[in-house]
Amino acid sequence: MDVSFSTDKVARAVRQAVTDGLLAEDRPVAGLLDVGGVRESVAALHQAFAGVPEVLHAFAAKACPLVPVLRLLADAGMGCEVASPGELRLALDAGFAPARIVLDSPAKTRGEIREALDLGVALNADNLGELDRIDALRPADCSSVLGLRVNPQVGSGSIGAMSTATAHSKFGVALRDPGARERVVEAFVRRPWLTRLHAHVGSQGCPLPLIAQGLAALHGLAEEIDARAGRRQITSLDLGGGLPVNFADDSVTPTYAGYVAALTAVEPALLDGRYQVVTEFGRSLVAKHGVTAARVEYVKEAGGRRIALTHAGAQVATRTVFMPQSWPLRVTAYGPDGTPKRGPLVPYDIAGPLCFAGDVVAHAHPLPELAEGDLVALHDTGAYYFSAPWAYNSLPRPAVYGCLFEDDGQDGGQDTGVLFATVRPAQTAREISLENGSDRADALLTGFAAPSRR
Ligand SMILES: Cc1ncc(COP(=O)(O)O)c(C=O)c1O
Repeated sequence: MDVSFSTDKVARAVRQAVTDGLLAEDRPVAGLLDVGGVRESVAALHQAFAGVPEVLHAFAAKACPLVPVLRLLADAGMGCEVASPGELRLALDAGFAPARIVLDSPAKTRGEIREALDLGVALNADNLGELDRIDALRPADCSSVLGLRVNPQVGSGSIGAMSTATAHSKFGVALRDPGARERVVEAFVRRPWLTRLHAHVGSQGCPLPLIAQGLAALHGLAEEIDARAGRRQITSLDLGGGLPVNFADDSVTPTYAGYVAALTAVEPALLDGRYQVVTEFGRSLVAKHGVTAARVEYVKEAGGRRIALTHAGAQVATRTVFMPQSWPLRVTAYGPDGTPKRGPLVPYDIAGPLCFAGDVVAHAHPLPELAEGDLVALHDTGAYYFSAPWAYNSLPRPAVYGCLFEDDGQDGGQDTGVLFATVRPAQTAREISLENGSDRADALLTGFAAPSRR
């Protein structure tokens, strides 16, 4: 069964992290990832697709681009979806075999295409112009599976920025535009080596029926291409990612089983084994297994509102700060020793340490009374939050620790220890300075040189 990093487990992890000195005055913020929970989500994904003969579940690296996490996922049987040269490097360093990596970036340079083809990494072209480049670059002995991304233009979910199958989306070939479908079919018929169709309908905020409608359109296009080509050309369908995450409480919903049911309800043949299947889930595999824990530095009032100034702001919760309606987070509070706080609830603005007024991760959030030295946890932040920090104000990338609950998998086991492994140490001030050119501090005074001497 797919379970989340429950509030009870988070409390145990926060308490142990304080005891172990991982959260302290000089270590005021950290990401915690429940390793057993991640493995359970991978197992639930495999279980949901057990009826499909050939599936590659490729984790969308952007959701948690940390090499030890990627290696954990590789060990659990996942492939990896990457969307930049950096993500490709991370996937290779994590140990994914090239044939289990899928490259999807929308603006691939010729060099990036060549590298993927040389490695044998699967590649989905974003547009017909990219197919022309592949025509010129594809080696005769190319082992990469090659596909084309299409946009079924089925519409938007509740978050526009997360909806990739809208009429004007920048991704893929817009299938319903005049003449586009015919151009796509012809592009396939002319290229027998083009064997995969790809679509990613959207992510958070996209209802399952909308995703299913888009993927059913993908299936219909595959059938049409095969009929026009007069051969079995499309061998695999890449269904993208996008299962939304429930940020409201501990429950995991929707589930992978629900996703499979929604797809087969709209197009029973989609997963019947005729086509190999690739999935690219990101957030749904890790979001509910991560929390961001941060120290309360000060508590104050302004205009009658209580404000807790903490060390978790837009640098670790960028989306939530800039789009609070779309990305609300649950917050829980702990005393300085990591014990859950009790008492009457009062509304707090949970603010971060950044120098702009909007740096608030939760507005009027009901919490027990807070004081300096307390801790807050931002729940469900295992995807796209602490793993992808924002460098504004030169705040350090926070440490990330994997948590292992010693009683996981034991019947009736209760409250034994929590072990930690460092996934990423906190960045030091010196590392921040180096990243920002301290080793070339004189560049603008004495550094001007001809290209060959730069
Ligand atoms: C092409 C593609 N695949 C997969 C994903 C992962 O989506 P999610 O994290 O919602 O599962 C994304 C997210 O942007 C994407 O663009």
